[in-house]
Formats: sequence, C-alpha cells, structure tokens
Amino acid sequence: MKKEVSKLLSMPKSVVFLQLPTVMKLDLKHIQVPIESEMAQFEHKFRDFMKSKVKLLDHITHYIVKRKGKQMRPMFVFLTAGVCGPINESTHRGAALIELLHTASLVHDDVVDDANYRRGFFSINALWKNKIAVLVGDYLLSRGLLLSVEHNDFHLLRIVSNAVREMSEGELLQSYKARKLDVEEDVYYQIIRQKTASLIASCCSVGASSVCTDEETIQRMWDFGEKVGMAFQIKDDLFDYGEDEIGKPLGIDIKEKKMTLPLIYALRNADWLEKKKIMYLIRNRSEDKKAVNEVISFVKKSGGLDYAKQKMTAFYQEALALLDHFPDSAYKSSLRDLVLYSIERKK
Ligand code: IPE
Ligand code: IPE
Ligand code: MG
Ligand code: MG
Repeated sequence: MKKEVSKLLSMPKSVVFLQLPTVMKLDLKHIQVPIESEMAQFEHKFRDFMKSKVKLLDHITHYIVKRKGKQMRPMFVFLTAGVCGPINESTHRGAALIELLHTASLVHDDVVDDANYRRGFFSINALWKNKIAVLVGDYLLSRGLLLSVEHNDFHLLRIVSNAVREMSEGELLQSYKARKLDVEEDVYYQIIRQKTASLIASCCSVGASSVCTDEETIQRMWDFGEKVGMAFQIKDDLFDYGEDEIGKPLGIDIKEKKMTLPLIYALRNADWLEKKKIMYLIRNRSEDKKAVNEVISFVKKSGGLDYAKQKMTAFYQEALALLDHFPDSAYKSSLRDLVLYSIERKK
C-alpha cells in the first residue's frame, strides 16, 4: 500500500487527481468513519474523566482538552475491538484510560526533554513550570487507573500497567544512553519498543481484550500494535530532521543527545575522523544551533534518513501481515489505513 501512495505522489498532477480518493482516505476523518459515534462519545467522556474539584487542576486540564492531539490511540482501541467483536462499554473505558496515560506521559516527557512547545501551543511546563507539570501528569495517570479500578476492568489494567512500567523503563534507558552517547541499533529498538510501542501495543490488545477472551487473538493484536508502534516512533524520530511545522520542537533530539536511528546509521558508516568530529559536536556543542545543523547535514548526506525509512517500512509491513489473520470488515480496512497513516502522517 505504501508503494502505491508514494507512486501516486510522484505522478503528474492530472493522474494524481484521478486517483485522489485513495490518498484522501488517509486523512484521520476518513479513517474514523466506522467509529464515528464512538469517537464522538469519547470526546465527552474523556473531558469528564479529567475534571477535578481543585481549581488549578481543572484550569490546566481544561487547557489540555482544548489542545487535543491526533487521538490515534483511542482509534486503535476502537478499531481493533471492532475487528474482534462488538464494541462495548469496557472498550470505551479502555480508550479513555489509554489516552489519559498517553497525555500524562506527554506532560512528563516535556519536563524530561525540557520542551516548551506541544501540539502547537506552550507545553504545561512552559506555562506552569516543572513542579506543576509533574503533579498534573501524576493526576492524569491516577485518573486513568481509577477509571479501570472502579469498573473492575482488571484484565485491561494488567495490560496497561505493564506498558506504563515499560514506558518509564524506556525513558530511563534513553536518558542513561544519552549520557554515555551509546549508538547501538538494538538498544535504540529496545528504547522505542518500551517508550512508545508498548502503549500502542496496549491499545490493540485492550481493544481485543474488551470484546473477546481468546488469548491468541489478544496476543496477536499486541504483536500487531507493537510493530505499528515501532514504525510510528521511527517516523517521529525522522520528523526531528525535517523543517515542517509539526506542533512540537525540531532538532531537539540532537540537542538532548538522543541517539536516534538516522544518526546511529550515519555514525556507523562514517570514517573514524568524521565520527570523532561529530561525536565531539554532540558531546560538547549540542546547545549550539550551528553545530546541531552540522550534525543534521552529516546524517542527511550519509543516507541516515533513507535507512530509517527502510526500517520503518519493514515494521509497517510486518504489522500489516499480522492483520491478515483477521476477517475483512470496515473496521479492518480503516485499521490498515491508520497503520499507513502512522508512517505517512505530516505531524
Ligand atoms: C507523541 O505521540 C509521542 C510519541 C510517542 C512520539 P502522538 O504523535 O500520538 O501525540 P498526539 O497525542 O497526537 O499529540
Ligand atoms: C515519546 O518520546 C514520548 C513518550 C513515549 C512518553 P519523545 O520525547 O521522543 O516524543 P516527542 O517527540 O516529544 O513527542
Ligand atoms: Mg522524550
Ligand atoms: Mg519529547
């Protein structure tokens, strides 16, 4: 499918015009068609679950709700549930639980990464400082966990709590490796599997688990989500090398000494002198915009971006292959599009 789309994009305009519906389907509105009413209900519930009697908290959660993200995770929950059986109330709670945890992780992530910008606006730490952002993240996490406990959704809670542990471990591993400037490709995969893919895997296995009890199905959906999550984070790491406005800071990974796949590949293929120079810049000059730009050009000229795209496509294809085990439906076809969207998205 990816090939089809990139082929389309390189065609003359007149040809593209004829085929446009295929490309247009890739927008989130189209992907949402089979779960339109579920997503509409989700909006309301999500807002209600965040409410607090504490004035400052209510003020901040209001700010968060107004600047919502792409909401891909609840979409994964609803679509995988739809593929496996009829969507029910626990599917809805699972979707809210995961978006709450995701939001909490972003609020904390911006503190960790010292990022002042998220979803096109100031981040919570930029407006209210780190102390408040840490507490708000904890509050969102606890709201999510309580939502499941109050409804005895322990099967969902087990899946998700495990992912929360993995996310913390992944972030810590990343931070540790950034300090040592480690550049092993397998360590990179471990980091992104833990910090990002585990939550997307949870979405898909929570979706399945909310509507069926078959262990093999729930596990298969987990594996599917994990592949999608890997591709999703490689895409995110590629954004860091772009110039397009995506609503969050760019060039920040090198500044934070995060060794992502394009850089890992470029360094592995550099001669020792060049490698030494680039490592020096990352280690000592990462606050300097000019030095960061030099590292970015080095990665680009070494084919680091192409290599990362190739790996991203491989994960994408592995994910799609796992979907073949499920019966065809409107949910499945949207789910395929959502996977494609994960690697073709513009933000
Ligand atoms: C951002 O996730 C965090 C990563 C795992 C890269 P999204 O790109 O899904 O964030 P929002 O919710 O749409 O802002
Ligand atoms: C992803 O990490 C966020 C989490 C998994 C918590 P990043 O730091 O790479 O993501 P962005 O680019 O800030 O969204
Ligand atoms: Mg981070
Ligand atoms: Mg970040």
